[in-house]
Amino acid sequence: MLLGSRRPDDRKDLGLPVASLNETAAHAEVLVNATPGTVSVELLHSIGAPALAGTVLIDVGVGLSDDFTELSHPNSSLGEQIQKAFPLTPVVKTLCTMDSTVMTAPDGLDGPSTVFLSGDDTEAKRTTGRLLTDLGWPPSSQLDIGGISTARGQEHFALLFIGIAGGLGSHSFNINVVTRPSV
Ligand SMILES: NC(=O)c1ccc[n+]([C@@H]2O[C@H](COP(=O)([O-])OP(=O)(O)OC[C@H]3O[C@@H](n4cnc5c(N)ncnc54)[C@H](OP(=O)(O)O)[C@@H]3O)[C@@H](O)[C@H]2O)c1
Repeated sequence: MLLGSRRPDDRKDLGLPVASLNETAAHAEVLVNATPGTVSVELLHSIGAPALAGTVLIDVGVGLSDDFTELSHPNSSLGEQIQKAFPLTPVVKTLCTMDSTVMTAPDGLDGPSTVFLSGDDTEAKRTTGRLLTDLGWPPSSQLDIGGISTARGQEHFALLFIGIAGGLGSHSFNINVVTRPSV
């Protein structure tokens, strides 16, 4: 695994190799966008569409104002905007409906919970599902909710996420989608 940074020389303390954004993209079979959603499209443009063509892009970003009260893509989503700007790069939106501590350790919660996937490319979603499994999300916890347009539901949940976190006094929670046995 290679981490990308604008200033790799200042990021030597992360415990993993760090490189520039361009170098990271050049090596990636799968790229994860974990940058502020307000600047992600611009940052990806700085890498360039040709360098990203054919690379699966897992997008966990959400564009929020500094006070966490407004979305930067209120009638759309970051995932959709990235997919539109980079049509040759299959984008999969996932993991953005939870705190980063839960993303990487879902078994730390009291019970099973749900991670969502949105994207237009079936193979890219399969690849992402395998990586989620490696991260600790069993296939039974992964819910494919459709094409990249459904990313807006995941991202817009951020506002409710912040409300729930305020009510609970904690960010360590997640949604668990449950159904009647017949569904
Ligand atoms: N943190 C969470 O629990 C969580 C949960 C759900 C979704 N998300 C989403 O995941 C993404 C990353 O979250 P985060 O908390 O890790 O964000 P962050 O700490 O603010 O930013 C992540 C990295 O992006 C780079 N960056 C920061 N500001 C930038 C700017 N103005 N322009 C270009 N690059 C910048 C920085 O790396 P370098 O300085 O090394 O380049 C920074 O370490 C966000 O979109 C967030 O909404 C986060």
